[in-house]
Amino acid sequence: MGFDRRVRIAPSILSADFADFGREIQAIEAQGADWVHVDVMDGHFVPNLTFGPPAVAAFRRHVRTVMDVHLMIAPVDPYIDAFAQAGADILTAHVEAGPHIHRTLQAIRGAGMKAGVALNPGTPAEAVAHVLDLCDLVCVMTVNPGFGGQSFIDMTPKVRALRSLIGDRPIHIEIDGGVTPQTAPLVVQAGADVLVAGSAVFSGGSVENPARYGENIRAIRVAAQSIAV
Ligand code: DX5
Ligand code: ZN
Repeated sequence: MGFDRRVRIAPSILSADFADFGREIQAIEAQGADWVHVDVMDGHFVPNLTFGPPAVAAFRRHVRTVMDVHLMIAPVDPYIDAFAQAGADILTAHVEAGPHIHRTLQAIRGAGMKAGVALNPGTPAEAVAHVLDLCDLVCVMTVNPGFGGQSFIDMTPKVRALRSLIGDRPIHIEIDGGVTPQTAPLVVQAGADVLVAGSAVFSGGSVENPARYGENIRAIRVAAQSIAV
């Protein structure tokens, strides 16, 4: 309930200390994170490996806000129930991950989660035009997925196209990759409302120096809201 398009910052724990996820999650939430973004990679759909359902279930014990789980895996469908059990609030699958995104989104909602669909930089907005009624979130990748710390790829025309396709449906537009105080205003102006940020949130901070996380989150939020209508 209560959908709105206020700007949300979702730090990606891909840039956290992998030996200290519990305290890292507590620190970013205490410092103003709206959601916690969890990047699941399989070494097949993307050239990197991160964590699976047991690790995500362990993260859940520390998340007080919203656990936003981004699957960069193929296939998706055999793992949907495991991520539901692990406590994902939002489960996002890539439209490029298989031939049956419609079925996948139905299954995610059927398992009791919000459903997201992600688009790689080379995939047009129109690829999701016929599944929007099954979506709660569209994630526009502004890097090629697989790694944190990459440079922002300008996808503002795609964000505008999606904003128009979505109309007044209650669907978030999330931006993932290379979000900084410099790039955030461009995508928010184009219609995005959820900003994933890994390196731009975690750089310079630590669980011993969490105030820096707060400064980083505020810098992105202030920059994004400076142009918000
Ligand atoms: C990339 C991931 C992103 C990544 C963002 O494959 O999906 O969530 O962690 O990291 P930054 O903000 O450093 O680009
Ligand atoms: Zn991500």
